Amino acid sequence: MSDIKNIKNDYSTKLNKNLSLEEINQIKTELFGKNGLISSQFKNIGSIPEIDRKKFASDLNQIKNELQNSIANKINEIESKKINEKLEKEKIDVTLPERSFVRGKIHPVSQTIDEISSIFSEIGFSVEEGPDIENEYNNFTALNTPDNHPARDMHDTFYLDENKEILLRTHTSPVQIRTMLKDKPPFKIIAPGRTYRSDSDQTHAPMFHQVEGLHIDKDINMGHLKGCLNYFIKEFFEVEKIKMRFRPSHFPFTEPSAEVDIGYEIKDGKLVIGEGDQWLEILGCGMVHPNVLKNVKVDPSKYQGYAFGIGIDRLAMLKYGINDLRAFFDCDYRWLNHFGFDPLDVPTNYRGLSR
Ligand code: PHE
Repeated sequence: MSDIKNIKNDYSTKLNKNLSLEEINQIKTELFGKNGLISSQFKNIGSIPEIDRKKFASDLNQIKNELQNSIANKINEIESKKINEKLEKEKIDVTLPERSFVRGKIHPVSQTIDEISSIFSEIGFSVEEGPDIENEYNNFTALNTPDNHPARDMHDTFYLDENKEILLRTHTSPVQIRTMLKDKPPFKIIAPGRTYRSDSDQTHAPMFHQVEGLHIDKDINMGHLKGCLNYFIKEFFEVEKIKMRFRPSHFPFTEPSAEVDIGYEIKDGKLVIGEGDQWLEILGCGMVHPNVLKNVKVDPSKYQGYAFGIGIDRLAMLKYGINDLRAFFDCDYRWLNHFGFDPLDVPTNYRGLSR
């Protein structure tokens, strides 16, 4: 009897000390291993005089439980200490500077589209989108472009099927049709996006970008068109004054139609927009043809308005001094690094468009 009390006292003292996990495991074996001190006491039970046996067994059980609890607590204590030490060591200092990483750049065309959207949204235009793959009806027929029109020639248009019903849109004008079929007038939208024509040289790429503009309401006239484009060009090139010229032109979907040139000059080898006596064509526009309005169930005797289509890549080249259009689509990382924009520098009219 006193044996097991002694074991208990000895080992309780031991377990109160600072112990390593190995030391605790050692104690566990000493007590509860096959020939451990407590295990062998259990084997002894049979040899205890019957009169004491019950009490002995119950004391032994209690001591066994107490020692096992102390061991479990000790192991817990050591493990949580380990975890805390680890957490302490692995603390992250969020005030440390970032490791160097390469931040991507915004492509000048994307930047230009954001700038254009920002400028037009200031005067009440919302942004619409249409698919690159169009049907012949939206791209031509609904836009009052008859079957025999030269623009339909295979040479310009990428058709996707033999019947020439599906194609890559040759301009953003089909978004006019989609918008007017979808909603009721008035309309005041722009639609930037990709366009495709079978053409490739220094100033033409088979894939290029346009932004369509459409404003239809009850009293819209050519004066509004002029005012709108004048405002846009000045904002876009960030100049006070701009020389603009409307040249009579022809588009099947507008009447009258015009192409717009802006004045420029080359000063010390640099292109200066808005002055000088040279002219650069940047967009096509006009008053929406009554046939187009009829095709989308808008009554031309009540509603009329203007549309325009601006070449985005051209504008980006002029503004950012890029002289070969093909560089836009080469995916040359060094070029993008030089001409690209900071992704966090989103253009807005208030903060400045292109700092
Ligand atoms: N869609 C014409 C083009 O691609 C541009 C345009 C748009 C002209 C809207 C007039 C009105 O050349």
